[in-house]
Amino acid sequence: MRLLITVARRIHKRPLCSPTSCLSSAASSSGAATNSGLQFRDDQLVCGSTGELVQRLSGQVEVRTEFISEEEEGALMKELEPGLRKKRYEFDHWDDAIHGYRETERAQWGVVCEGVMDRLRAVAFSEGSPLLGPVHVLDLDKAGYIKPHIDSVKFCGSTIAGLSLLSDSVMRLVREDETAEWLNLFLPRRSLYILRDQARYKFTHEILKDAESIFSGQRVPRHRRISVICRNLPV
Ligand code: OGA
Ligand code: MN
Repeated sequence: MRLLITVARRIHKRPLCSPTSCLSSAASSSGAATNSGLQFRDDQLVCGSTGELVQRLSGQVEVRTEFISEEEEGALMKELEPGLRKKRYEFDHWDDAIHGYRETERAQWGVVCEGVMDRLRAVAFSEGSPLLGPVHVLDLDKAGYIKPHIDSVKFCGSTIAGLSLLSDSVMRLVREDETAEWLNLFLPRRSLYILRDQARYKFTHEILKDAESIFSGQRVPRHRRISVICRNLPV
């Protein structure tokens, strides 16, 4: 499993991009409550280098707040935590795309979690799109982060969909051949993100480390974060 996941990533050097200049303004009164106390309207969860880019990728980058309830998050943690706790966080593989993590896969779920997976598959994938067998579970330590990479085109198809548990975070997308083009996604705890097509193939994605975790000028403290990621198969 480790091998597949390691092979499934192509690592990229961290691209240069201007640190702020997001389009959206922060902190509105409506929208998702988050564990960092930050609130953004649903249409403010994605910002980027230009409005034109945000528009162009709007069908390929999605963040759905409150995709799972607190109870569902609890049910997922109850199923995942015992297995994860047996592993140690890995920090010392300098060439890994991920720093400070442990991971597992899951094919079978209890009733509540299977309901969540059904809902996720229904919104992220078209009917009949063959999915990569087991779901990938990635547990990032508070000090952990994911470096810029593009998931393997050999093993993974056009769509990546991930649930975020336990912590808010910031995902950055940078165009591989034009690093001035970037998007930042605010991923609240219990949200679902979906990356498709160009956003998945032409842009690297990364999860920022706590010290760099800033969205739209606002600090987004990064705690331990678990992601539950579904991918489809290449056609
Ligand atoms: C990965 C990845 C993102 C996340 O494992 O390839 O990009 O949300 N994960 O954890
Ligand atoms: Mn990835």
